[in-house]
Amino acid sequence: MGTRSRSRIEWVADHCALLSQITDEFRQTRPFDGLTIGTGIHLEPKTVALLMTLRAGGAEVIASGNLSSTQPDSVEYLRAAGVRVEAEQTTDPARHTALLRRVLEAQPDLLLDNGGDLFALYLEAPYPGLRGGTEETTSGRMRLEPLREQLSMPILVINDSPIKQFGENRHAVGQSMFETYMRLTNRSTNGKRVTVFGYGPCGEGVATCFRHAFAQVSVCEADPVRRLEAHLDGFMTPATDAAIASADIIVTETGAVDVLTADHLGLIKDGAILLNGGHFPSEIDFAGMAGSAEVEQRDEFENGALTTLRLKDGRRLTIAAAGHMANLAGPRPLGNSIEAMDFGFALQARCLERIATGGTDASDCVVPVPRDIDEGVANAYLDLRSG
Ligand SMILES: NC(=O)c1ccc[n+]([C@@H]2O[C@H](COP(=O)([O-])OP(=O)(O)OC[C@H]3O[C@@H](n4cnc5c(N)ncnc54)[C@H](O)[C@@H]3O)[C@@H](O)[C@H]2O)c1
Repeated sequence: MGTRSRSRIEWVADHCALLSQITDEFRQTRPFDGLTIGTGIHLEPKTVALLMTLRAGGAEVIASGNLSSTQPDSVEYLRAAGVRVEAEQTTDPARHTALLRRVLEAQPDLLLDNGGDLFALYLEAPYPGLRGGTEETTSGRMRLEPLREQLSMPILVINDSPIKQFGENRHAVGQSMFETYMRLTNRSTNGKRVTVFGYGPCGEGVATCFRHAFAQVSVCEADPVRRLEAHLDGFMTPATDAAIASADIIVTETGAVDVLTADHLGLIKDGAILLNGGHFPSEIDFAGMAGSAEVEQRDEFENGALTTLRLKDGRRLTIAAAGHMANLAGPRPLGNSIEAMDFGFALQARCLERIATGGTDASDCVVPVPRDIDEGVANAYLDLRSG
């Protein structure tokens, strides 16, 4: 019996059961033969599994990442496998944009986007031959919807699949944000007051996970209908100022800008810990808070995984990952569970296959995943788990 030393990337690949099945199929069917796919999605072990699946389908992949979340071992792995990677771990938006532009300079036939960065940049310098692509997330869909007329090509929004909504956003982001809170702070949740901003699927999952970890959870939700749902689910729904003032832990999950700003510093409880789980680092205005005249000292722990701001009145507050999406930041970032990402990435592979093989047209611009693809992925997962 031999013993092998294997990497986390290989552990992840071994457990992406849906992607493994699709990879085997794509090796035979080769839906992307002769096509280039440009990608702009978090470069971490689960996306490595997705990109290798697309390669197995014949695609030439040119990969970039998202702001702040690129993992060097994933980049190394992809490059060793012959994938062109234009990505680096950076929190500088200008540098990030320059890397995305390099992907577009290669004029890919298909784009796999996460947050709408690639499609938005494409519109600044369109090129012939782009067939369309996919958008992974809520934030990207909100950004691309107003650009529908200009884009006028098939763009399938993975986030709007019910499977992504419940499989990842509701069931995985909460677990991941809870794991992130424990991993970054090593602090308890028992008896703590937690306020979650946003009660979409992500916020619902976060609120539920912290409640299951013996915290008292309040929800701040802008939409009264969703706020009612949070109330009926048993969460407190106080007014925003009261929800901020009472919280030991605040998590933002809104997709909106400036949910927490320097204007809120006067309200925040001594010792509070703030984490953003939304896609863009704009939900918590870290720069505005850190630069406030009320702050007299800034302590950074583990290269900014946590920043404690000491206020002139003696209170302290801590912000995770400088307001970047916390579950893919800091030491040993894991992100959402392998199974949850396997769902979304199986949808990605099937949607890109559909566009590559001519199963969509320009009217499918920024629309949800086709129902039959959802059904195929659901059946594949249930078949794998049965017996
Ligand atoms: N961290 C992760 O791994 C991960 C995974 C998936 C999605 N996301 C991101 O999480 C965010 C939320 O995703 P979702 O699918 O739940 O989105 P959603 O749009 O379904 O829900 C967001 C909710 O926030 C509410 N909201 C907006 N502004 C608000 C404010 N200022 N105060 C209070 N409530 C407000 C909205 O009314 C809405 O109900 C998005 O940015 C998404 O891209 C993160």
